[in-house]
Amino acid sequence: MTSIGIHDLELATAHHVVELDRLAEYAGVDPAKYRLGLGQDQMSFPAPDEDIITMGASAALPVIERNGIDGIRTLIFATESGVDQSKAAGVSVHRLLGLPPQVRVTEFKQACYSGTAALQAAIGIVSRFPGERVLVITSDVARYALDSPGEPTQGAGAVAMLVGENPALVEIERAAGIFTADVDDFWRPNDSTTAVVDGALSMSAYLDALTGSWDDLRAQGGPEIDQIDRMLYHQPFTKMAKKGQQRLAEHTGAPLSAALTREEQAAAPAGARDTGLFTGSIYNRRLGNSYTASLYAALAALLDHDTELAGRRIGMFSYGSGSVSEFLTGVVQPGYAEHGAASRVEAALDARVPLEVAEYRELHARVLPSTEDAQTPRVTRAPFRFAGVHGQARQYERTA
Ligand code: HMG
Repeated sequence: MTSIGIHDLELATAHHVVELDRLAEYAGVDPAKYRLGLGQDQMSFPAPDEDIITMGASAALPVIERNGIDGIRTLIFATESGVDQSKAAGVSVHRLLGLPPQVRVTEFKQACYSGTAALQAAIGIVSRFPGERVLVITSDVARYALDSPGEPTQGAGAVAMLVGENPALVEIERAAGIFTADVDDFWRPNDSTTAVVDGALSMSAYLDALTGSWDDLRAQGGPEIDQIDRMLYHQPFTKMAKKGQQRLAEHTGAPLSAALTREEQAAAPAGARDTGLFTGSIYNRRLGNSYTASLYAALAALLDHDTELAGRRIGMFSYGSGSVSEFLTGVVQPGYAEHGAASRVEAALDARVPLEVAEYRELHARVLPSTEDAQTPRVTRAPFRFAGVHGQARQYERTA
């Protein structure tokens, strides 16, 4: 049977960064609550001329430059922070990337889960049309109300993936565990720019979905826990991955290490099995929540920093509030290390321009109405920018 999976991937983020120590100081909270309690150091924040489309196109551009466009006849854009109720964000990306008209484009939505739905749909398309490749883009801006408990878990980021046969990075295995439950843990009403969330319920719903999708993975003939070498989780904040790992260890009885930092790794009990929790959190700790992109940012971090992955199996838990979740597994391919993007990603994270809390709060409150023509100031250094609104339509341009 032909192997299908992720052939290439790239991470992009926003122009600005907010240091969570500064936010803690402003909020009168112990900075350790954010660093250790949530496992977050920073959050990316978009400039006024950035959004899911500019980040998604910026992530996809290097993938196209490295691989060309041959065989790409589908682009799926997964997001929960869509900028239009009708037009798929991917249609703007299609033009920005100069893709030919013979590419079907659509948008997938189901909170943070839809990136995984897009990946599975892409695998289905590649199975149906051998030789084709699918461009999957996950891109989100996570926004909660100012001064709310969710505020330090905001963030922004995009991961673009090229899905095809004989992938260079990760073959996605056939068995997948699914778990859906109608629960009001987190949502964003049409007339709101920020999410509504019941924090405690969202964490218990996440953990129930984890064990539910794990049990289904096993029922579908998926691997046993000790056949999985590395474990990645959706990371609304990186401490959630630790909570997930603890729950999975309890549920399966496996001695999985829940060490999320180097210090915790050094102090881990003898016999605890290190499944790469710390390595998978390296980017997300600095990005914040990137919703649909979060799990794939964890995958990028693992591929970029773990030198012993060839032939190893990765378990990946995808959760989207509301809720739909999936536990899938993949096998890392022998030449994966050639992709090595750590220095590139770290340089991009380091190059973000810091915002003081007052500047961030001012930008957070600024919402461009869709009813008036307006131009956005040129701020981003990304290859694409949101130029403003004209005739109620959002305008995008290539900058470089
Ligand atoms: P909170 O009420 O401010 O925080 O909100 P807390 O009081 O529960 O404290 C958080 C942690 O910090 C706790 O650790 C404290 O003990 C610790 P825990 O007990 O949980 O292990 N802490 C400290 N640690 C060290 N030093 C200190 C200190 N003080 C406290 N001094 C909450 C936290 C996560 C609820 C909030 O940030 C929130 O509402 N976030 C948004 C919702 C969310 O991320 N939910 C996660 C699961 S749902 C999901 O993943 C889906 C999602 O991505 C959306 C989608 O699918 O589209 C969100």
